[in-house]
Amino acid sequence: MITVQNLKKYYGSGNSQVKALDGVDLTVAKGEFAAIVGASGSGKTTFLNIIGGLDIPTEGKVVVDGVNLAGLREEQMAVFRRKKVGFIFQNYNLVPTLTVKENILFPLDLDGSKVNESFFAEIVGLLGLEEKLKVYPAMLSGGQQQRAAIARAMIAKPSVILADEPTGNLDSRNGQNVAGLLKMTAQVYHRTLVMITHNLELAQMADRVLYMEDGRIVSK
Ligand SMILES: Nc1ncnc2c1ncn2[C@@H]1O[C@H](COP(=O)(O)OP(=O)(O)OP(=O)(O)O)[C@@H](O)[C@H]1O
Ligand SMILES: [Mg+2]
Repeated sequence: MITVQNLKKYYGSGNSQVKALDGVDLTVAKGEFAAIVGASGSGKTTFLNIIGGLDIPTEGKVVVDGVNLAGLREEQMAVFRRKKVGFIFQNYNLVPTLTVKENILFPLDLDGSKVNESFFAEIVGLLGLEEKLKVYPAMLSGGQQQRAAIARAMIAKPSVILADEPTGNLDSRNGQNVAGLLKMTAQVYHRTLVMITHNLELAQMADRVLYMEDGRIVSK
């Protein structure tokens, strides 16, 4: 579960101050799939990055799976990110010098955790990556790279999956496919999923669509 109260993020000061987030209140239930849509610059990425502990707010409270982020020091924040959050980015962010298998297992390596081989095989099967485990990301299509990134986001069993325009670099058919797989894997493992998208059709796949405007979530 994600709880956000009166979240504000201001950049700069004086006349040049930007209110990237200007008082966001939100609860996303455990296992819920929420999509965030909104114009460029409305604060979507800022919001996701703060929930995921990649950025810190100017004001307000964020609690993710029982962890109040305000109380965490930098090292604790890094542990929070590794254990509780799976990130998926528009440009996949796979490590080019690692094979697909090594990329998927990377979060476990960082954490010194053991690989659960049957869980690994299950995820790889769900995402249709069995034939691609030994190749490098450059040898994959965009859709395949994003499927590998989804597997990587899931492998450490984080409670929350945060995806920032995960289909932004894909054509509409691949985008549909990847978003469908993302939703399906989140459902299978009962993960909370927050996905930013510019595609209103994909947003409709979510349990709830949140509209962001000038740093606030507005109701439609
Ligand atoms: N590090 C930063 N320093 C200063 N301003 C920033 C910074 N990061 C974001 N902003 C500003 O905060 C506002 C919100 O940016 P954000 O990236 O969250 O928007 P977004 O909704 O994700 O947009 P897009 O759809 O283009 O990705 C913008 O006005 C942006 O210029
Ligand atoms: Mg953005």
